[in-house]
Amino acid sequence: MELKIAVLAGDGVGPEVVLQAKKALHAIADVFEHTFIFEDALMGAVAIERTGSPLPEQTLNLCLNTDAVLLGAIGDPKFDNNPLAKVRPEQGLLKLRKSLGLFTNIRPIKPYRPLLNASPLKRVIIEGVDFVIFRELTGGAYFGEKKINEAGTYASDLCEYSKEEITRITHLAFQAAQKRRNKVTLVDKANVLETSRLWRRVVKEIAAQYPSVDLNFLFIDNAAMQIIVNPKQFDVILTENLFGDILSDEASVITGSIGLLASASLGEKNALFEPVHGSYSKGKGKNIANPIASILSAAMLLEHFGLQDEAGKVYEAVEKAIEYQVVTKDLKPDSNFGTHDVGDFVANYILSKDDLLYFNNDNVHIGQSTIV
Ligand code: IPM
Ligand code: MN
Repeated sequence: MELKIAVLAGDGVGPEVVLQAKKALHAIADVFEHTFIFEDALMGAVAIERTGSPLPEQTLNLCLNTDAVLLGAIGDPKFDNNPLAKVRPEQGLLKLRKSLGLFTNIRPIKPYRPLLNASPLKRVIIEGVDFVIFRELTGGAYFGEKKINEAGTYASDLCEYSKEEITRITHLAFQAAQKRRNKVTLVDKANVLETSRLWRRVVKEIAAQYPSVDLNFLFIDNAAMQIIVNPKQFDVILTENLFGDILSDEASVITGSIGLLASASLGEKNALFEPVHGSYSKGKGKNIANPIASILSAAMLLEHFGLQDEAGKVYEAVEKAIEYQVVTKDLKPDSNFGTHDVGDFVANYILSKDDLLYFNNDNVHIGQSTIV
């Protein structure tokens, strides 16, 4: 298969983690005889610095005309701490999501067995957790009309949803549930918000078309608690944009590190793959950022194009890295491995068609190169 992939490395640790994802994809292309053509483009703070815009026209055009987008991370504290900034890196990402029509964001949550102790939550609570968040990505308060008065003393963000916006993601969530454990939990605030009541009505109607799938409802405040006290109850969580943003960071605690969470953002024509984590500017260039979220996002890209065996190989390589403790310090504070080591391990694992004996486990404790 030939795929043209736009790479938006972005800010902070974005370039280092996305480089590891590219290594994995290069290895997959080699082993499975595919052609992946990568084209780099600017987005985020780095794009603001060089062009004045967080999403230059050229970048948007490239993304519109490629098969997929692989995104590193965007954001810079320089903008976060300046409420008066007119241009922000995040605007680039939001505009890209909207322009590509990426209305469904999929974020799987499944802890790795060797990392059960890496989570601050008790093992008995997280062992066996396996759910996926379907977050609506192009509506709600993120995109409703924004206002601030001249005096800067009043502001509002309009939260809007249409039946169509709810319908299209709901079908995808139910179809996913049919391939999983047949359960959809709609998370909302229907006791207070009119938009949530619309979500409930529309989702209930659609549920009738999927009789094998159980639908239940949780208010966002309760859901935030349930994710911590009993995350095993979830299979597919369906929710609006802002609630999904918050719940997915919270859910990352189950896996032990937000550096492990990948995501796919899908539209009618386009698809974008990015880690759930932010740009972690403090870690930039230090070779300490966990590249697994980015590598797993590349695996989701492969799955999206029906390359199941290829994606499976990447998942297997990541499992091996974790099993052999070739992980960054967020997962193992005394680890001697950096971002690049994890990426090299994964790529080498994929390249070695015989997956045995290429890794010398004895070297792990002395932190020497483990790729032999
Ligand atoms: C995410 C991020 C973004 C969001 C930011 C960077 C705009 O937090 O993808 O979860 O809020 O959607
Ligand atoms: Mn977020």
